[in-house]
Amino acid sequence: MKKVKIAKREVFPIGLGTWNMGDDKKKYTQELEALRVGLEAGIQVIDTAEMYGDGDSESLVGHAIEPFERENLFLVSKVLPSNASKKQLPISLDNSLKRLKTDYLDLYLLHWKGGIPIEETIEAMEKAKMQGKIKSWGVSNFDVNDMTKLLKLPNGQQCATNQVRYNLGDRGIDFDLVPMMKENSIPLMAYAPVARGDRLGADLTKQKVLLDISKKYHADVFQILLAWCIRNGQTIAIPQSSNTKHVMNNVKAANIHLTEGDLAKIDSIYPEPSVSEPLALW
Ligand SMILES: NC(=O)c1ccc[n+]([C@@H]2O[C@H](COP(=O)([O-])OP(=O)(O)OC[C@H]3O[C@@H](n4cnc5c(N)ncnc54)[C@H](OP(=O)(O)O)[C@@H]3O)[C@@H](O)[C@H]2O)c1
Repeated sequence: MKKVKIAKREVFPIGLGTWNMGDDKKKYTQELEALRVGLEAGIQVIDTAEMYGDGDSESLVGHAIEPFERENLFLVSKVLPSNASKKQLPISLDNSLKRLKTDYLDLYLLHWKGGIPIEETIEAMEKAKMQGKIKSWGVSNFDVNDMTKLLKLPNGQQCATNQVRYNLGDRGIDFDLVPMMKENSIPLMAYAPVARGDRLGADLTKQKVLLDISKKYHADVFQILLAWCIRNGQTIAIPQSSNTKHVMNNVKAANIHLTEGDLAKIDSIYPEPSVSEPLALW
């Protein structure tokens, strides 16, 4: 298993997503356990956002990380586009830090592009960095044109990642965004990497090719989806799960190294895109 370089750190290539976690009291204990099982097994990246459960997801994460060494973790949160101004971003950030019970984030992302000029958001992010409240910043849901423009702006090259939807059923970004980010040594954070437990309509778990490859590695299709996602060594996949068994399966997927032959078989049913495609969202 190769770690992924991000923001001057090297981290385990599978992280923990937390969308839809923390806001249902009946599921709280199970969700807390799922996150802790992942962290105990070596996961470092935890992805959350002020938007998730209106802060409840960040509060759950703050609780989950209590027994762990802060320096080993890589905490990611996101500011809403409407809060990404010079005035509001510091307030959002302080609230996130309070809920997470920490004094810094490893990475703070602009959740998606909004009405506030990106130059202003960069300035606010850089200020937060100087104050030690964030170690690095990045963006989410930026397409190749957005990224190209961003990198040309003052301090735009400080962008540490772009978090976008990426899975076998949604690999449009392989045409342009992935190569562009690789060229600029910017790692990708892949959301919905297991296609929401195959609920995005792609029927990935029924594909014979994927089932055959799974058998070869004594794995299941979701683990193959994750192994595929992180195959280039520059991607961190952040599957969400409230099930400890699934979390452990996801951790183990980091040790599955698909061969050129496996990848060719996968390409034959899920071909690399040959034209530019709009970014898949949510
Ligand atoms: N930046 C953005 O705009 C954005 C958008 C969407 C998501 N995200 C982030 O990315 C994370 C992941 O994306 P997502 O939650 O949309 O989709 P996802 O991780 O692809 O799918 C989550 C679903 O997959 C199931 N699952 C996970 N691992 C599994 C396994 N090994 N076997 C079987 N089922 C499994 C989970 O159910 P169980 O609980 O039963 O395991 C859950 O229902 C989010 O939680 C969030 O942190 C970011």
